[in-house]
Amino acid sequence: LWLAVGIRRRQPGEPAVENGFIPYLGCALQFGANPLQFLRSRQKKYGHIFTCKIAGQYIHFLCDPFSYHSVIRQGRHLDWRKFHFATSVKVFGHDSFDPRHGHTTENLHHTFLKTLQGEALPSLIESMMGHLQDVMLKSDKLSPSKDHWDVDGIFAFCYKVMFESGYLTLFGKELGEDKIQAQQEAQKALVLNALENFKEFDKIFPALVAGLPIHVFKSAHSAREKLAKTMHAENLSKRENVSDLISMRMILNDSLSTFNDVSKSRTHVALLWASQANTLPATFWSLFYLIRSPDAMKAAREEVLKILEDSGLTVDPSNPTLNLTRDQLDNMPVLDSIIKEAMRLSSASMNVRVAKEDFLLHLDNQEAYRIRKDDVIALYPPMLHFDPDIYEDPYEFKFDRFLDEKGQEKVNFSRNGRRLRYFNMPFGSGVTKCPGRFFAVYEIKQFLTLVLSYFDMELLDPATQVPPLDQSRAGLGILQPTYDVDFRYKLRSTTC
Ligand code: HEM
Repeated sequence: LWLAVGIRRRQPGEPAVENGFIPYLGCALQFGANPLQFLRSRQKKYGHIFTCKIAGQYIHFLCDPFSYHSVIRQGRHLDWRKFHFATSVKVFGHDSFDPRHGHTTENLHHTFLKTLQGEALPSLIESMMGHLQDVMLKSDKLSPSKDHWDVDGIFAFCYKVMFESGYLTLFGKELGEDKIQAQQEAQKALVLNALENFKEFDKIFPALVAGLPIHVFKSAHSAREKLAKTMHAENLSKRENVSDLISMRMILNDSLSTFNDVSKSRTHVALLWASQANTLPATFWSLFYLIRSPDAMKAAREEVLKILEDSGLTVDPSNPTLNLTRDQLDNMPVLDSIIKEAMRLSSASMNVRVAKEDFLLHLDNQEAYRIRKDDVIALYPPMLHFDPDIYEDPYEFKFDRFLDEKGQEKVNFSRNGRRLRYFNMPFGSGVTKCPGRFFAVYEIKQFLTLVLSYFDMELLDPATQVPPLDQSRAGLGILQPTYDVDFRYKLRSTTC
């Protein structure tokens, strides 16, 4: 009978199991309503590891941070590719990148490291800084003035500025500056349409990951396909200053894969999503907390003005050409701490591995648990991020939480007197850790540097509370706010 209704019984040596009350869904609804609360209550009941049935899948949640290493270190029993490649296929509709499926021989992980890290970074940084200033000060997207305040939602503002700048940094521009006006208009329309299509598609992202087919969502489906069409090789080849990430993608799609043209363009949509979906809310939370905290604002502005002064840079909104090197960006511990703290409070990515075979999972406390082949093991970092034994007043934003007594990056965090190896995991862990994480932090730092240099900013309502996190995306990355928060901004009259 157990087998017939798809219910698992705990075998000797296995973690405790919760099948939930609803067939197939199991605990999905309780988990979805508030994952952190759900996991904490089960941790209290069962201890460091337990198993829950969620949407037909048995997931072992490992809750002891000192045991994370046994999952993150890529042991021979665990597979990361199966889950990641399958999710991307399900959501974006391209052929599989898993070499075992025979559509490509590419080592995708290697391609990401080559095109998003190390030597690839300086040109991404330079390009992003130029686009950010163009969008903030030279385009008609915003028209800030010295004489009056402009009002906007913080999320809406971040979306406009970061989406366009990030999009142009990765996918380049179709035309040079000197091209005729009609072509420039076409270029603007392209970015605007991309933004609208991205938003429409992104709305249903959690449903697609949960396994619903995209054709159920007509407008989101059409939005994804419209995005893919603009990324057809024929269209991309007309663009200048395309990043290594995208140009390498084009070359490798052509040389190593048997993908058809539609599949190839959908791989670019996947990269657009990866580059924007977390960065946009992370930028929102960083700017929101910065504006809301006078101490953070003061310390951040001092840091930015000092860097500009030391480099002899002048802030001139009529000629916005500020540029910061990678070294200078690396030397901004206050902005770094603000971004880390904002992400600690808003990130909810699930770290997932699949068991390749039956094996014994050893925990830090010497206990060992039997895991079955094809079971999923998950880490849920918010359990660390909101642990009061690691972070004092964990629900409070403290801009200097990640600064040590010398004002430099703090790397020493402990729990019950024992130093933690893993304490802040917005970018995932181990082999699946986000390859774009360095660029992501640089681009948010660049954004903050520029708004602090060029604008005065205030919350429209100084008593604004922190908007709740939209839990519908829990497990998928940085959570969005459930509603936007208005602020006002104008050009600063004092410049250095
Ligand atoms: C994957 C977080 C920005 C490119 C991931 C993952 C997370 C993440 C949690 C999945 C890790 C896992 O499954 O364990 C973030 C956050 C960002 C950000 C919080 C911003 C604040 C970016 C940017 C880019 C990027 C700007 C590229 C320009 C990627 C790619 C993957 C990925 C390509 C897939 C890697 C793979 O499957 O091997 N990111 N990301 N990310 N991210 Fe990011």
